[in-house]
Amino acid sequence: MFDAGTATVVVVGAQWGDEGKGKLVDVLAERADLVVRYQGGANAGHTVVIGDTQFVLRQIPSGILHAGVVCLVGNGVVLDPETFFGELDQLAERGIDTAGRIFVSERAHLVLPYHKLLDAASDKSQKLGTTGRGIGPAYEDKYGRRGIRVTDLRRLDCARALLTERVERANRLLEMMGAGERASLEQHGALLERLAPRLLPLATDVGLLVHRAVREGKRVLLEGAQGSLLDVDHGTYPYVTSSNTTAGGAAVGAGIGPTLVHAVLGVVKAYTTRVGNGPLPTEAESPDEERLRQLGGEFGAVTGRPRRCGWFDATVVRYAARVNGLTGLAVTKLDVLDSFDRIPVCVGYELDGERCDQMPAEADALGRVRPVYERHEGWRAPTGAARRLADLPPAARRYLDRLEALSEVPVRYVSVGTRRDQIIEVSGG
Ligand code: IMP
Repeated sequence: MFDAGTATVVVVGAQWGDEGKGKLVDVLAERADLVVRYQGGANAGHTVVIGDTQFVLRQIPSGILHAGVVCLVGNGVVLDPETFFGELDQLAERGIDTAGRIFVSERAHLVLPYHKLLDAASDKSQKLGTTGRGIGPAYEDKYGRRGIRVTDLRRLDCARALLTERVERANRLLEMMGAGERASLEQHGALLERLAPRLLPLATDVGLLVHRAVREGKRVLLEGAQGSLLDVDHGTYPYVTSSNTTAGGAAVGAGIGPTLVHAVLGVVKAYTTRVGNGPLPTEAESPDEERLRQLGGEFGAVTGRPRRCGWFDATVVRYAARVNGLTGLAVTKLDVLDSFDRIPVCVGYELDGERCDQMPAEADALGRVRPVYERHEGWRAPTGAARRLADLPPAARRYLDRLEALSEVPVRYVSVGTRRDQIIEVSGG
């Protein structure tokens, strides 16, 4: 993806999340100087397998696994400090040195324990099937202009005053919701005091760092979390997360101008999954769904919940291509389909008896659509050892060609297994 004219690349999920962005970021980070997370929080779960070790990173950019890469947490992220430091400690235990390689935006908002209590107690969160990480309540506070930011830790007395008001407010809400638990001001105060000396040395103006890096000719990877159909504006509202997961969010959330974004890589599975509630038009029927889930290991990286599984949906990916301005596609988990005899691909929808090829704005309407399927012949052969397109069985190549034509975006990468080396680079890079 990186070349003479392409110094800044955004990697986004082009379905409902869990597309395998962690692996792509890991592969691309080898050629990057900086990796930046720009939205979401500890609701993300980026899984990277190196040798026999599996790393699940929720809050720290997956680029950290490459020595020499500097990782930044942008202003658009809601930072869960306990998860963040827990991950830093785990990386240290596994011998990964992060000193001088991780910085956090001073403008990022903090996710505090009271946000998690509110998420857990909210009927709305239950209905949406959130990850329960306090993400929605933290973004609500941000946009309600009552958030606590990293920079507030610089003046702990002011932060404590903010905290008193926020904790009282949270407790009033918890009471209204009929929840048994209450947030403790004392515990929150102690948390901020403990955090400040560890977090403040990492706090900086992330946008400025990225800006300077680009000027110096460095390569920057902007790592998205969740997927485009979970975007608060463009997703299947209200069954969405609370941030802009699409490429526009990368500029805002990293603190740079949109003209600094040179390329956008959309990551898609060769099929589709969704975790949490909301419409999923191509959800497979039994026993195919269980088969996809078992073969693909489709269980949530954060919550362990079984993911709902179905077939590739070209309407979703074409829509994601448009709202993200995708310049390339990475198709992951092709190997999961290796044993299927026939593989359906959704080429459009029927909505209330009429053909509909665009994404409806209402989740209700998307819940009513009937997918129009093409059925592709399976290749019934292992693909995990392929390192070039030419190594793939002809039926697998035809399948990829069809996904490319339907998505209207060139396929640049194909992932054929969980390991770092199980990837086909189609061209450039
Ligand atoms: P929240 O982000 O925890 O508020 O959850 C809102 C919706 O987004 C729920 O349906 C979650 O299951 C979904 N979601 C959040 N993060 C991820 C992710 O990393 N992968 C897939 N789904 C996610």
